[in-house]
Amino acid sequence: MRRHKILVVDDEVPNLRLLRRVLSADHDIIEAQSGAEALEILKAEEISLIITDQRMPAMTGVQLLEQSLSIRPDAIKILLTGYTDVQALIDAINAGHVYKYIPKPWDAEELKLTVRRALENYELKESHDQLVVALRNALLDLEAVSVGTIRALADALDAKCDYTAGHSVRVSRISVLIGRELGLSDELLRDIELGGILHDIGKIGVPESILWKAEALTPEEREIMSKHPVTSAEIIGDLKGLLRAREYVRHHHEHYNGQGYPSGLSGKEIPIGASIILVSDAYDAMTTDRPYRKAIGHQKAIEELSKQSGNQFDPEIVDALMRVLEKAGHEIDKLIQEEFSQGFIGLNLPSVDPAKTGKRYLEEVERRGRL
Ligand SMILES: [Fe+2]
Repeated sequence: MRRHKILVVDDEVPNLRLLRRVLSADHDIIEAQSGAEALEILKAEEISLIITDQRMPAMTGVQLLEQSLSIRPDAIKILLTGYTDVQALIDAINAGHVYKYIPKPWDAEELKLTVRRALENYELKESHDQLVVALRNALLDLEAVSVGTIRALADALDAKCDYTAGHSVRVSRISVLIGRELGLSDELLRDIELGGILHDIGKIGVPESILWKAEALTPEEREIMSKHPVTSAEIIGDLKGLLRAREYVRHHHEHYNGQGYPSGLSGKEIPIGASIILVSDAYDAMTTDRPYRKAIGHQKAIEELSKQSGNQFDPEIVDALMRVLEKAGHEIDKLIQEEFSQGFIGLNLPSVDPAKTGKRYLEEVERRGRL
């Protein structure tokens, strides 16, 4: 971890010295004796973390943290409190202003650990933001939507996710088959195809340690993971040719019963392309092997989809997929290859070698086993 600038705020100088003593070996400590002084420092310095006492004259710690949001929204905020300011604390935490509060008197080792975790969080978000900006700029540089670029993005994601070689392209094509079965226009089908390819592109910003985790995710990991539809939409940005596809991407984890994310849309509020991508994504995930689990097979996948029809999935779309699968004689891969030999929008088969799928993942598991 690199050295960060930490702003410590307390009206009592001995407390500031104590914080400096504990934290200055690893980080640069900047002291402020009041909220007003702290705000001035925030304007001038790249502060990663703010640690403030709650009880101070003039401006309380919570007030300071609230005001700091407009200057340094990304800085992580820790509140030290020696009083039972329960309500102020609850309000601040609920409003998302405080990462953690530490009751006084604090323990040096515990404080160091909390600071370390907080800064890890800060770095994670920072690298994620940089990637999103870089990808967006790369896309904006292009005057028009280039098929080659979209293809390269999909390949980059498949390579990163490792186990999903060709997944984006397959989801995209199954989605088009469903859309066609539902009698959608060519224009919508094109947007569904694009949306299908790009739906998980935001996972480029999710660390491998989370993407490849076979065990259940922690609440923090789940939160990072659940941001990917919005990140995907951000990467697509305002490109004219992708406005509708972007909405499909943003909402591809909304559930028919309203229990999905990011907006909790339900039923027909969900853009149709998004509901279609959700179903094909689920089908493809269940019928392809992953390094940490085998495919459950076509029949079981169908049962699973039926079970969730009307809950997670739009029943009309599940029915349409069933009809497609019946016609295909359950050989969806063959159908995909034939139907798309020309490529609906000119995208050919995945270039990630499926034989190599999972190699990096398995190496990583082994490496961790050795640790
Ligand atoms: Fe997704």
